[in-house]
Parts: sequence; C-alpha cells; structure tokens
Amino acid sequence: MRALKKKVAIIGGDGIGPEVVREAVQLLELYRDKAGLPLDLWELDLGADRFLRDGTTFPKEIQIAIQRECSAVLLGALGDPRVPNLEHARDILFGMRFGYDLYANVRPVRAVSDRLVPLKGRGAKDVDFVVFRENTEGLYVGMGGQFKRGTPDEVAINEDVNTRKGVERIVRASFDYARKHGRRRLAMADKSNALRYAGELWLRVFNEVRAEYPEIASQHVYVDALCLYVIQDPSQFDVIVTNNLFGDIVTDLGAALQGGLGMAASANVHYPTIAGTGHSPHLAVPGGSQPPRPASSQSAVGGGERVAMFEPVHGSAPPLAGKDIANPFAAMLTAGMLLAHLGWAEEEQRIERWVTRAIDEEACTVDVGGKLGTKAAAAWVRERIAKEL
Ligand code: NAD
Ligand code: IPM
Ligand code: MN
Repeated sequence: MRALKKKVAIIGGDGIGPEVVREAVQLLELYRDKAGLPLDLWELDLGADRFLRDGTTFPKEIQIAIQRECSAVLLGALGDPRVPNLEHARDILFGMRFGYDLYANVRPVRAVSDRLVPLKGRGAKDVDFVVFRENTEGLYVGMGGQFKRGTPDEVAINEDVNTRKGVERIVRASFDYARKHGRRRLAMADKSNALRYAGELWLRVFNEVRAEYPEIASQHVYVDALCLYVIQDPSQFDVIVTNNLFGDIVTDLGAALQGGLGMAASANVHYPTIAGTGHSPHLAVPGGSQPPRPASSQSAVGGGERVAMFEPVHGSAPPLAGKDIANPFAAMLTAGMLLAHLGWAEEEQRIERWVTRAIDEEACTVDVGGKLGTKAAAAWVRERIAKEL
C-alpha cells in the first residue's frame, strides 16, 4: 500500500549517474527537511558495480516492491564499459519502462536561456516543445534473433512491434497533454512512406484521434523532415508524438537546442487508460459498457497513482565520470518533474527558475559555459531555493 508519505526509489546507476543523482537527491532532501514535503527516499544499490559484484540486475522482488510502494523512481543513467552487452542496463531500464507499462516517455525540449540555443538568430523563446515518445513497443521490444552468427551468411533481425492499443494510447496522451496545457499544435512523426505496415497503423490511428481534438492544429510529418524543420525553426513545434526509436533520436536532437544533454529532463509515465487498454471507444468490447474515463491527476505531467520513473535524457557519459564536471541540472530539472508529478508543480517551476538564473549568471558547469564543478553548480541552485522555502 502507498502510505501518506510519497516513497521515491533512487537508482544512481553508472558513470555520472550517481554523481548527478546525488545532487538531485539533496534537492529532494531539502524539500523534505526544510519545506516538510512528505517524501520517503529509498536508495537502491543497482547498476554495473552491483552486477559485477554479485550478478544482480533488477530483482523481481525489488521490481514488485517499487510497483507496490513507490510513487516515483529517480534514475541516473545506466551503461558501463565493463558490461559491454549492457545486460544490467536493459534489465533495469526496460524492467521499469516495460514492466510498469510506462508507455509515455515525456521529454520537454525547453531552452532556459538564449545563451544555450545554438541556432543563429534564435533564442529561448523559440525552443519550447514536448516530445511524447512511445516507450513500450517498436524496435525496443527485443523480439528477433540471430541466425548463423559469426559466419559469412549471418542474419540479425529486430522486429518493430506496433499495436493498435500502444499507438492509440500514446497519440491520445499527446493530444490530452496538448489540450490540458494549452498547446495549440501537434505533429505526429513517422516514416510511413518506407515502413508501410507500422506507418499505416500510426497514420490511421492519428487521423482518427485528431478528429476528436479539433482545437489543436495537428499535422503528420515524416520524421526525417521533422529533424530538418526542428533545426530550421523550432518555434513551430508545441507537441511531437512519435515512436520509441524516433523519439530517442529526436530528443537528443532536441537536447542540442537546450544546451546539450546536461540540460534535458524526462518522465516515464503510465497515463490512466480505460480498463487497462488504450483510451479509445474503438477498443471497447462491442455492446459492452464504457467505463468512465479516469480523472487526470493534479500533476503537470499527469498520470495517476501508478509509479512513474524520472531520468535525465543523458546517459552515463563514462569519460566524465568521477571528475566533478558533469552537469547536474538535467537531473535537478528531472527532480522538478518528479515533484510536479507528485502534486507540487510550483516547485518544478521554482527549480527551473533557479536553474535559469544559474545559467544566466554562469554559475554552471563547463558544458553550458560556466566554470563550476558538479557539486558547486548544484549547491548554487539549492542554496537559493533553500532561502525561499
Ligand atoms: P551520453 O548521454 O552518456 O553522452 C553523450 C554526450 O553528452 C557526451 O559528449 C557526454 O559527455 C555529454 N553529456 C551527457 N550527459 C552530460 C552531463 N550531465 N553533463 C555534461 N555533458 C554530458 O551518451 P553515450 O555516450 O552515447 O552513452 C554512454 C552510455 O550511457 C552508454 O552505455 C549508453 O547506452 C548509456 N545511456 C544510458 C541512458 C539511460 O540510462 N537512460 C541514456 C543514454 C545513454
Ligand atoms: C534514452 C537512452 C536509452 C534509450 C538507451 C540507454 C537504451 O538512449 O533513454 O534515451 O534508447 O531509450
Ligand atoms: Mn537516448
């Protein structure tokens, strides 16, 4: 049972993960100790070190305990050169994304300062869109195999799995988000000109769903062209919805517009759906009664009482690890998304405001033009937040 306190599992992970998560956790501790937010922080020893020590990746009992007891997970990053096949990373990361059915990977692409926008003649006001990345299907499901491996005739196959339910619920979640947040434009990006079967499903579902949201100007864009348009004029985008792989790529592109991966935050959420299916009346049993659409929660990201997982977009950046140079702001902004999800949306804004000030005053790490280390940059933001609490 979830207690009155909101329990948050913490997984630092590998490389720079533990360093940036430590700073974000200190921010959550500040909110717990100074502002009295009822947070119960639960640190888990999972990642490459643990795997190399005793072979543990993501034990079933931990997976279940998180699902039963936690409102959120804060994850750093996974990936370590000592585990070349990334077995532990897949078990943990996909164990949560797939295991908890966190089908919406919500990645805001928002530049907090003009200084961080690398495009000539563009500023922060031009970079403010949100990518809804499908997070439980596509090429990520791990279906496929190898045949005649290591011979000249070898074959390797990864299947691209797209279900009606999976496509519909992410498309709907993106439209619901646009409606709830007053975003007026939505683009669905696919590659239906080449990937005929999956593409046709995405396009058909998109065309059905968009008809229910007439106030939102929606368009279909091929994902290759989308990459072009995002660089030519990012201000034309409000919400982008796309599949798992394209969403992964588009959000690293987006991170470049935000000042790099050190500034990009994300949430993995299961928005409530009808009877555990997609939202859609199309999915209802013929003749059956339609369960009421669950009310959306107070959270900025949305979502109900199911556990959600929050992680910076960046990876473990092994060359930066242990040097106190990684940018902690992506992890701190991610902690902000987590707080908003738990009902404290104003704290997400406060964190973003002080991160913005830090960037403007160059109280930040080298990747975003400052001279501070990880710890000092994070402390600069925390100390100023502390004075306001
Ligand atoms: P990466 O995100 O670790 O690094 C890409 C580039 O961004 C590098 O130049 C790096 O120095 C820079 N960068 C990333 N985070 C930064 C930060 N906080 N501050 C300053 N600079 C930062 O991606 P990669 O190098 O392709 O992957 C490294 C490992 O991380 C791989 O094992 C990969 O699979 C893994 N990975 C994990 C996650 C995750 O767990 N969610 C996400 C992406 C990559
Ligand atoms: C991300 C990462 C992961 C992904 C990797 C580590 C599997 O790149 O979260 O963006 O592709 O989803
Ligand atoms: Mn990625």
